[in-house]
Amino acid sequence: MEFPILKTKRLELVEITDKHLADLYNLFSDEDVIRFYNLGKYTQLSDAQKFVDWYRSRYNEGLAIRWGIKLKGNTDIIGTAGFNNYTTLHRANIGYDLQKSYWNKGYITEALKAVIHFGFYSLEINRIEAEVMQGNVSSERVLEKLGFTKEGILRQWMLWNNSYYDMSMYSLLKSEYSG
Ligand SMILES: CC(C)(COP(=O)(O)OP(=O)(O)OC[C@H]1O[C@@H](n2cnc3c(N)ncnc32)[C@H](O)[C@@H]1OP(=O)(O)O)[C@@H](O)C(=O)NCCC(=O)NCCS
Repeated sequence: MEFPILKTKRLELVEITDKHLADLYNLFSDEDVIRFYNLGKYTQLSDAQKFVDWYRSRYNEGLAIRWGIKLKGNTDIIGTAGFNNYTTLHRANIGYDLQKSYWNKGYITEALKAVIHFGFYSLEINRIEAEVMQGNVSSERVLEKLGFTKEGILRQWMLWNNSYYDMSMYSLLKSEYSG
């Protein structure tokens, strides 16, 4: 299917393409943005190219969808959001990030409302999951604002750089979604 564009009051969510390599590099070369991610800090534009290629092929295979987040009227993307994986009629894992200078203005909550709506009604997902590293309070707050339930701690769930990390599991079910 043609890549869907989502619009909110202040934002436009668009397909991430090669035009956005520098924006992605800026985003993922910031240690504060990747602090709670199992993602190595970007050191060159080719790291961003891998991101674009990965999501393009995953989208084409119907396995994932990740949007670039733009302020309406601008061309640069200031963050990304979407489903790292999904299965129609079943479940999806949601992911999101934003350049630091735009934090705490409600942008991700606004973007995710559109992403979640698309997930439940266009992708026909039943359960949206989020796994959050311990200490990522702003991410937990975003999920609370969106009505997610914290189900518990997944002990040593993530393996990253030879260390194990506990993750909090959050979920939102279609049956409890009121958006
Ligand atoms: C998590 C992230 C996407 C949030 O984006 P955002 O646009 O700033 O989110 P919002 O503005 O919608 O909401 C942030 C909330 O966290 C709160 N918050 C921020 N820092 C906080 C802190 N140290 N303690 C408590 N609450 C905090 C804000 O006050 C706000 O809540 P409020 O609306 O009740 O005031 C952004 O911080 C980010 O890109 N982090 C790095 C990437 C990341 O960790 N992604 C998630 C992986 S699970």
